[in-house]
Amino acid sequence: MTPPTTHTGLLQWVAEMTALCTPDAVQWCDGSQEEWNTLTDFLVKQGTFVRLNPEKRPNSFLARSKPSDVARVEDRTYICVKRPDEAGPTNNWADPVEMKTLLVEKFRGAMKGRTMYVIPFCMGPLDSPLAKIGVEISDSAYVVVNMRIMCHMGSHVLRRLEDEVRGVISKKRDGHGYFIPSAHTVGVPLSPGEVDSPWPCHDEKYICHFPDTREIWSYGSGYGGNSLLGKKCLALRIASNIAREHKWMAEHMLITGLHSPDGAVTYVAAAFPSACGKTNMAMLVPPPQYVEAGWKTSVVGDDIAWLWPHEDGKLHAINPETGFFGVAPGTSYDTNPIAMDSMTANSIFTNVALTDDGDVWWEGMTKEPPAHLIDWTGQDWTPGCGRVSSHANSRFTAPAAQCPTIDPNWQNPDGVPIDAIIFGGRRATTMPLVFQSFNWGHGVYLGATMGSEMTAAAAGTIGKVRRDPMAMLPFCGYNMGAYFAHWLEMRRYLKHLPRFFHVNWFRKSEDGKFLWPGFGDNMRVLEWIVRRCRGEAAGHETQIGWIPAFDDFNVEGLDGFTEKNFDACMAFDLKEWKTELVSQAEFFLDLYDHLPKELLFQRELLAARLV
Ligand code: GTP
Ligand code: SPV
Ligand code: MN
Repeated sequence: MTPPTTHTGLLQWVAEMTALCTPDAVQWCDGSQEEWNTLTDFLVKQGTFVRLNPEKRPNSFLARSKPSDVARVEDRTYICVKRPDEAGPTNNWADPVEMKTLLVEKFRGAMKGRTMYVIPFCMGPLDSPLAKIGVEISDSAYVVVNMRIMCHMGSHVLRRLEDEVRGVISKKRDGHGYFIPSAHTVGVPLSPGEVDSPWPCHDEKYICHFPDTREIWSYGSGYGGNSLLGKKCLALRIASNIAREHKWMAEHMLITGLHSPDGAVTYVAAAFPSACGKTNMAMLVPPPQYVEAGWKTSVVGDDIAWLWPHEDGKLHAINPETGFFGVAPGTSYDTNPIAMDSMTANSIFTNVALTDDGDVWWEGMTKEPPAHLIDWTGQDWTPGCGRVSSHANSRFTAPAAQCPTIDPNWQNPDGVPIDAIIFGGRRATTMPLVFQSFNWGHGVYLGATMGSEMTAAAAGTIGKVRRDPMAMLPFCGYNMGAYFAHWLEMRRYLKHLPRFFHVNWFRKSEDGKFLWPGFGDNMRVLEWIVRRCRGEAAGHETQIGWIPAFDDFNVEGLDGFTEKNFDACMAFDLKEWKTELVSQAEFFLDLYDHLPKELLFQRELLAARLV
């Protein structure tokens, strides 16, 4: 195939990677429907994909990964910069020269027997001042078809890159005609005649970022954030470095529009750790009486937000993605009908169960499980068998354009103005349902000290509370202390500041039940937030921040939810908060070198208020 581009830098990089990886063929992806059809047919033939029943789930597929390749591998994720303190104590550091040398050897001949796909992609609407073009080379057709859903991908991106080189488009970027080279291999070369496995991957994995040269190298995994390099690797770890330099922000946040009965839209961005409810909140369906009153929500993004100080003095946000890579278990017509309606066709399901009529199922999708399934490991499954049918981190990949509540501005290059920033984690104790910060500095402190119980989204211990500042612990591409300083500094570039809030949908009673109904009823909390932003709702000052009183909080239609229940959700216990402060102090000590003093003082002020 003659390379379909005149971009000499790209031609040269692809030639170098081809010489290094020695694939049998090189295929430049155009992003067309024909290409998708050919690749999905190929994946079905390989046994990677099962085509789902076209009557139930048209043009959709199920993939089952190897049980050793089911989530992000944080302990194999590296930030490769000259000095360890540039990566900071919350990242794995590697020397860029040593790591590059190692990776070059890993990639040498790694694609033998396979096709190398060249995937031009753009994170963000092509015309956005923040949009970033990357090119991923990958030996995984699964990656190509997922990328086609998750971002702008194909010939039109390549054309844009070439136009930039010619200077046709003049706008500020990280350099005209510049692309972020993103190299991926599953690390399993094939000898002549060798039969491929349905999910090739290597036991040894490396997910490496080179912020100084803006490169990504990913080896050994085919799954999610490890292999779809536009997502966490580019749009968060590399982008956070670019954002710091160019004074914007790359965050692990949903963006949603809250439409009140008077027709006004309040856009909010919320940072919750992985598998802690971003997709659910982005797609929230308000309770019936809210809908009747004229409230509705719209989705701009469910995982990543790029925010910048707009000329209008406000913080604006775009979603750099075009698809959802959402947690499947627990998603149902009861909990998230919008997600369910977004994945009715043209979607990919990974590590969920297959029904006898060729559709998908996972725990929580329906109250009654089907009588028989093929589980995510390919074995027969029946309701009493003692195993779950779907992996806890099983996911759906669905096009955002299919979302029934997608916001009309979701591809607006100018983004949407953000009025509130919400932080939250999964906390069985300590954290009340909602409170508002006193100001920007206190808000940054709330984000910086966020804690959450660990979920299945990353390989490791589940349930343990860890500090996950701004939900960016696994995604900040530089020193976390410097990242906090960047957050504090951003206030200077804004005329109209968003308000900060902290929420916790996950508080439990002593007998282990959620105290708050959550999901659609979170609208009640969001209504208070909207009204606070608009200067309409009362708040009460407490030691930890501003909170709603029961009278300021709409519980209409919440059967049996009394003031006592509200108080239980909103309570803060001084003993628990002191434990929290000790844990924060420990975390701050780890970050001491680069930690802005302002955050230490915020902690001192809180301690003083608590006694
Ligand atoms: P990533 O895609 O991993 O970044 O995660 P996410 O934040 O988008 O997670 P998602 O919305 O998919 O969260 C999924 C998990 O959170 C599921 O187990 C849901 O059942 C649970 N969840 C979401 N919202 C609520 C809520 O309001 N209350 C309770 N109790 N659980 C919730
Ligand atoms: C997360 O873990 O926060 C995700 C899924 O959004 S992945 O893309 O696999 O990182
Ligand atoms: Mn995420």
